[in-house]
Amino acid sequence: MKHLLKLMDLSPDEINEILNLADQLKYEKRNGIEHHHLKGKTLGMIFTKSSTRTRVSFEVGMYDLGGSALFLSSNDIQLGRGEPVEDTARVLSGYLDGIMIRTYKQSDVETLAEYGSIPIINGLTDYCHPCQVLADLMTIREFKGSIKGHKLCYIGDGNNMAHSLIVGGIKMGMSVSIGCPESHQPDSDIMEWASKNGDFVCTSDIYEAAKDADVLYTDVWASMGQESEAERRKKIFAGYQINDSLMAVAKPDAMVLHCLPAHREEEITAKVFEEHAKEIFEEAENRLHAQKAVLVKLLKD
Ligand code: CP
Ligand code: NVA
Repeated sequence: MKHLLKLMDLSPDEINEILNLADQLKYEKRNGIEHHHLKGKTLGMIFTKSSTRTRVSFEVGMYDLGGSALFLSSNDIQLGRGEPVEDTARVLSGYLDGIMIRTYKQSDVETLAEYGSIPIINGLTDYCHPCQVLADLMTIREFKGSIKGHKLCYIGDGNNMAHSLIVGGIKMGMSVSIGCPESHQPDSDIMEWASKNGDFVCTSDIYEAAKDADVLYTDVWASMGQESEAERRKKIFAGYQINDSLMAVAKPDAMVLHCLPAHREEEITAKVFEEHAKEIFEEAENRLHAQKAVLVKLLKD
């Protein structure tokens, strides 16, 4: 593994290795055991979109590992004024040991990896969010004891989160169902891959999608960059919500996950959110541990 650009590039064994190391790093952090695996290493963190979890967890993660992190807002570096990604990649490769980037186009992340000579980590694009799903899989394993064989149901927009959940879930042997409007289905290539490689369903009937689910997952109706469509999307996604009546068709011990930030009474009711706050905030914490595992795998000598 040279980069983390998308989960499709990882084998199930590589995902398992990351999750095992994440569990170990979480245990060590909880018990005050120092783990300076990246002493003297510097991670650059390029953001062209907002972030709370990704920014803070990567920055704290690098400090925990004995290294340092630089926050590079695209507004403040020449990338934001049109300097090509190809040049930015070659310049930053001379200063840094790795780059985490959050941006719009997946192709920009791939170009950074192609032209740079250091590991590149995708911290979210319009296409996918691999770091989030590594933390999600870690959380599912923590709460359910295992991943394989459990049913993961995602309700909402066929967006970056849906894409990474489909790929991560199927690779780890979960059965995956998506409940979304016909007009906002996930990428057809990903759905075709999922149908060939595992147990996958995409339906506009959320009750069919959620039936007997072990894990219910949702995300905002309007992602970053879609702010101007927010009102229109509220109409399209009305009803694509995790609420008590949907919970009633899932398994009685179903867990609920949300990548956050959450919009209460839109994709999830405040009641269901608070009833499952334990899992949801453990999931948010696990971003730190899962990403530290990725950093160690990619940046350690
Ligand atoms: N879930 C997630 O990536 O959160 P941020 O946008 O706060 O980084
Ligand atoms: N789909 C959301 C995920 C945020 C973590 C977005 O792209 O804004």
